[in-house]
Amino acid sequence: MAGVTDVAFRTLAKKYGAGLTYTEFLSSSAIVRGSKKTLSLVKTDPIEKPVAVQLFGHNIKEVIQAAKLVENKFDIIDINCGCPAWKVIKTGAGSAMLNDPDKIATFVGKIVSAVNIPVTVKIRSGIDAKHINAVDVARKIQDAGASAVAIHGRTQKQGYRGNADWKIITKVKEEVDIPVIGNGDVFTPEVFEKRLEESGVDAIMIARGAIGNPYVFTQIKDYIKTGEYDSKDKKEQFDEYLNLARKYNIPFLTIKTQAISFTKGTQGGAPLRNKLGVTKMLRQLEKVMEK
Ligand SMILES: Cc1cc2nc3c(=O)[nH]c(=O)nc-3n(C[C@H](O)[C@H](O)[C@H](O)COP(=O)(O)O)c2cc1C
Repeated sequence: MAGVTDVAFRTLAKKYGAGLTYTEFLSSSAIVRGSKKTLSLVKTDPIEKPVAVQLFGHNIKEVIQAAKLVENKFDIIDINCGCPAWKVIKTGAGSAMLNDPDKIATFVGKIVSAVNIPVTVKIRSGIDAKHINAVDVARKIQDAGASAVAIHGRTQKQGYRGNADWKIITKVKEEVDIPVIGNGDVFTPEVFEKRLEESGVDAIMIARGAIGNPYVFTQIKDYIKTGEYDSKDKKEQFDEYLNLARKYNIPFLTIKTQAISFTKGTQGGAPLRNKLGVTKMLRQLEKVMEK
């Protein structure tokens, strides 16, 4: 997740039981240009095994070049064909790629041939309710040599509105042989178990459910094993994040956003967030969090 899954956050998610972590989506052209900001996001922690780098771009030459530049640091190259943000789709990247499944297949085929690690793709269910094409896209992705497909059960048009359609995810699982990773609206261990059983997917990807609560991965694992789970104090989780953020020189503004997320759902969280919002440096932020 852009602005969320920095290396410190991912390390914590991994420690708490995530099976696979991904960088936020990185612009292939920024990597090729040597953008310092983007390259700072390529850092990983040794605990992250396996770890995926997610790339986006509309220019196949650039995406291949970017993939080759970073592949030695990662176990998987994931191609973003799901982002609905205007600044991404106006260039033809992200979920705009769903308009042309053959183009996705060509992209995937060329990237698979160019790199030495597995290539996976993240898609949405389609462009809009009238153009649901995830099954067709997933088949083409598979035939082009991808090692897995992740599908968020919403259309590009939906953005984050409405509900994720797990029926289409189930259909994709029925129709392809490569591993299918289902994604959308899984916030609790109970829903995780239900979705896993109903859809038969090989894995479930959790995004918003981990924001401010990376401990959700432990909760899920415990629930699957024992039928029970506990919760972990948000301040304790944030302190662990902060230690890692210091180690990895995460920028202050990112830490501030994370701190605000960790206060969500806590008692007195709203006034705390107002105070955090006006902090200008780490020491100030820490004082607010201590209180
Ligand atoms: C803040 C934020 C940033 C995101 N950034 C990315 C991204 O960089 N790459 C990506 O594939 N999806 C991204 N997503 C989408 C999520 O990966 C996921 O598909 C979506 O949130 C649905 O899953 P959920 O219901 O578990 O949140 C982002 C979502 C959020 C909320």
